[in-house]
Amino acid sequence: MTRHFLRDDDLSPAELVEVLDLADRMKAEPFDHKPLAGPRTVALVFDRPTLRTQVSFAAGIAELGGNPMTVDGGLAAMGSREGVEDVARILGRQAAAVVWRTAHQADVVTMAAYAGVPVLNALTDEFHPCQLLADLQTVREHKGTLAGLRVAFVGDGACNMGNSWVLAGASAGLHVVVGAPQGFTPDAHVVARAREIAQDTGGSIDLTTDPLEAAAGADVVVTDSWVSMGREEESEERLRIFPPYGVTDDLLSHAAPDAIVLHCLPAYRGKEISEEVIEGPHSVVWDEAENRRHAQKAVLTWLLEHSA
Ligand code: NVA
Repeated sequence: MTRHFLRDDDLSPAELVEVLDLADRMKAEPFDHKPLAGPRTVALVFDRPTLRTQVSFAAGIAELGGNPMTVDGGLAAMGSREGVEDVARILGRQAAAVVWRTAHQADVVTMAAYAGVPVLNALTDEFHPCQLLADLQTVREHKGTLAGLRVAFVGDGACNMGNSWVLAGASAGLHVVVGAPQGFTPDAHVVARAREIAQDTGGSIDLTTDPLEAAAGADVVVTDSWVSMGREEESEERLRIFPPYGVTDDLLSHAAPDAIVLHCLPAYRGKEISEEVIEGPHSVVWDEAENRRHAQKAVLTWLLEHSA
């Protein structure tokens, strides 16, 4: 069976630990693992803007002994020139794995059904699971543990990062509290699934509209842009609603004194995060960005090893 990583719960809690442990080993010894020696090619397909995802996958695949092949989703004109089903079979005949950033989760599911090789979701509107691996690696690095920690996700809980945090957080046994305005909470089905997972891991998921209640006592404070890709036409309304949810020194004063702050970037300083916080002593955003490489190398290696 070919294994894919399309959403955070595609890895069981035990598998998540395996991948995070491998990510730590790969960070310690970046050139010791060569599962792509040949070099085998990995297709990196982007229909949407990218910086961290492209550079971290390209650098990571090279470190694994492979060849990163970037495909411009716009040039490929997927969906209009040819369907995802056909593109999947073309890519699967050239590449050992496919990494795809696109809008709709349903499309990465179709890619996985037809590619015949592992498919990794490099961000859809619904999930950003590769980012969460890097985030969890970063939290574990700074806190020494995951299970039992309290995480505040403050801001637009309805975006890919909100959904991924509740799912991956549940798998990791974290207590995740989402502080988001009414109408901007993570998807109800995702929350239900996360709560199901949390029953086994000892984690929990809570939702509140009060950002300070979310931040209270948090070991980890997470935020993301208030205007995700594809939501640009809602900017004006969102910029009116979200200001009370900014991660500022004031909000942080409600968290644990040694709280760390994560942001998947790009950051809009003065909006979802203040200049003082992102540049301040609690911020671990640069470690988090670096860990994209290690975590993605690990999950790619793990998927290849576990695909027949
Ligand atoms: N929620 C953001 C994440 C960017 C990495 C977006 O979708 O634009």
